[in-house]
Amino acid sequence: MKDNHLKETAVKRAAEYREMAGEDPYRLHFHLMPPVGLMNDPNGLVFFQGKYHFFYQWNPFETAHGVKFWGHYVSDNLVYWEEAPVALAPDQWYDRNGCYSGSAVVHEDQMYIFYTGNVRNDAGERESYQCMAVSEDGVQFDKKGPVINVPDGYTAHFRDPKVFKKGPRWYMVVGAQTVEEKGEVVLFSSDDLETWSFQGTLAGSDRSGLGSFGYMWECPDFFELNGEDILLVSPQGLEPNGILYNNVYQSGYFAGKADLERVSYPHGGFTELDRGFDFYAPQTMLDGNGRRLLVGWMGSADEGSTSHPTTHHGWVHAMTIPRVLEWENGRLLQQPAEELKQLRGNNREYRDVLVTDQQSFELPSSRDNVFELQVQVKSWDAASFSLTIGTNNQLIYREATKTFTLERANFEKPNVVERRHCALDELKEIRVFKDTSSLEIFLNGGEEVFTARVYDEAYDQLVSFHAEGDLKMDVAKWDLGRILL
Ligand code: FRU
Repeated sequence: MKDNHLKETAVKRAAEYREMAGEDPYRLHFHLMPPVGLMNDPNGLVFFQGKYHFFYQWNPFETAHGVKFWGHYVSDNLVYWEEAPVALAPDQWYDRNGCYSGSAVVHEDQMYIFYTGNVRNDAGERESYQCMAVSEDGVQFDKKGPVINVPDGYTAHFRDPKVFKKGPRWYMVVGAQTVEEKGEVVLFSSDDLETWSFQGTLAGSDRSGLGSFGYMWECPDFFELNGEDILLVSPQGLEPNGILYNNVYQSGYFAGKADLERVSYPHGGFTELDRGFDFYAPQTMLDGNGRRLLVGWMGSADEGSTSHPTTHHGWVHAMTIPRVLEWENGRLLQQPAEELKQLRGNNREYRDVLVTDQQSFELPSSRDNVFELQVQVKSWDAASFSLTIGTNNQLIYREATKTFTLERANFEKPNVVERRHCALDELKEIRVFKDTSSLEIFLNGGEEVFTARVYDEAYDQLVSFHAEGDLKMDVAKWDLGRILL
């Protein structure tokens, strides 16, 4: 009952402000975003009854964090999406301050959602409950209440359950903070999805040779990829270290071999998944074709949500495009999902383009400033190469340092340039996905990715190539269409 009332209030609020959001020139064309209000983490990514389901953390009432709902989009093909009714509203004693992040699995043709019920009790203290909800059609959800309480030794920062199956058993990884304030990922197991038993710590700060590694680990995900066991996690509390960990919170992965029965997971170091400014809390799913897909929140905890100009139109944040993961030669590769090619139109191709000290290269502007760009480097005899998109955004490769850099203008002070970097042995390929107010850059077949929100002037559409030295490349560009039905 209460549930419906809260959902209706959210729907009403969305209806009232939808037009204002829709009029924003920075509204994205090929990214999932909230109809109004604030979007954060991707939740419950699952392929169910022939459709992709995508849920997300949603505050319909303001462009700020707060009490979260689960918003919902559905797709037949991973390209075009339809808004579905609100899936979860924070209306029960165990989730009244937010239906926080979680995941979905399919069992006996039903969809099971696991999420964190966030509660501020009457004394103002945080409580968290790992809760379950079940659906027969993937649209209406029946809340079953808490299935896990916080175990001894942990604070109430205990959240973001990700459930998966291995052999006959179900497992759940949860992001946690110990009473000593160390970030951890803990493991539960179950035979029936309802009764869960605590197995122990899978990974954490001061474990597996990691050293001190953050006070809280959020949004874990665990899966096998080409024989490797990968743990994704978003640790809070890492200090910047040169070109690493420059955002307030990070998202990255460990790789190793896990023995879940013994709760043992010797693993290697932590690698950031994305080198840009706006990427956090990614989640993966296995789709009908056995691919491991990843979507991240195209946002960041450090940007007070007010710094985004979209807040003037009553909405903020979005999701990355879906990426396909592969494990190859000891590293994770991330490539944009092939399906996105369906959005392409108006192709232009330029072969054997020479860029030298004397000769830069410029592309004609494109409709809406929304495009995909592919650059293949065919020969390189240069100290540096830069690709300028609009006047504010620069992608630069420097031979001397073997680093790739993304520069953008600060949202509030356009004269202030901000930078993020990654190490790259050689520049072979750049793929850029440019939406009205975002940039996603994939390097060398997905070895490195940069994601950033960017707010250029609408007229600011030039794409130009410059070099110190000589280089030759093939360039292709497409306009890209819209994904929301
Ligand atoms: C990560 C996070 C999660 C939490 C959710 C709340 O961005 O803090 O840990 O479940 O957001 O919206």
